Amino acid sequence: MQDAHDIDLRLVADEIRACTACPLHRSARQAVPGDGSADSGIFFLGEAPGYHEDLQGKPFVGAAGQFLDELLAGIGLDRRKVFITNVVRHRPPENRDPLPEEISACHMWLLRHLEVLQPRVIVTLGRHAMGKFFPGESISRIHGKPRKTADGLLIFPVYHPAAALHQPALRDALHADFAALALFLATTPPTKEPEEKPVEQITLFG
Ligand code: URA
Repeated sequence: MQDAHDIDLRLVADEIRACTACPLHRSARQAVPGDGSADSGIFFLGEAPGYHEDLQGKPFVGAAGQFLDELLAGIGLDRRKVFITNVVRHRPPENRDPLPEEISACHMWLLRHLEVLQPRVIVTLGRHAMGKFFPGESISRIHGKPRKTADGLLIFPVYHPAAALHQPALRDALHADFAALALFLATTPPTKEPEEKPVEQITLFG
């Protein structure tokens, strides 16, 4: 049976598919709104769709996605029980980094997803996703540890799985980050803060 989250998620996905807020929709085949569910309260935020994601309309279905699946399975997480999306929802040409103005244009969809899903923790994959919450920080300094934003959002930054495909040393670091995430999830009760702010009042960095 569909719950309210599923219906809201489908509405947001339809809105994202119709988005023309930045020029990326012109070169991409289709939008990649995000995939998964609110079941676990865990929200994964990547960088941008690549070739395979653009083709299939789903996040993390290429080589980086296979590694992400392996990391999730390694800590007993089912991909269908977490939500996975990206900082930008259309593929940048030639897989270049998303531009600041593209990240800003896509910001409203992050807010919409957070509003619908109210996740317990946001796991940022790579530096672009980390930069939404901690601009100017270095991922090598803060990965693998939970950290709260000034607004009380709980962020768990990890390296990007694609980076580990090119730099074998990062593979071990990512496995260690996911082990730390598993420990954190197992030892932190999923409670909401009483003083939690509504999502629309939260400061994120576009
Ligand atoms: N890398 C990302 O950041 N996102 C995807 O969806 C795929 C690869």
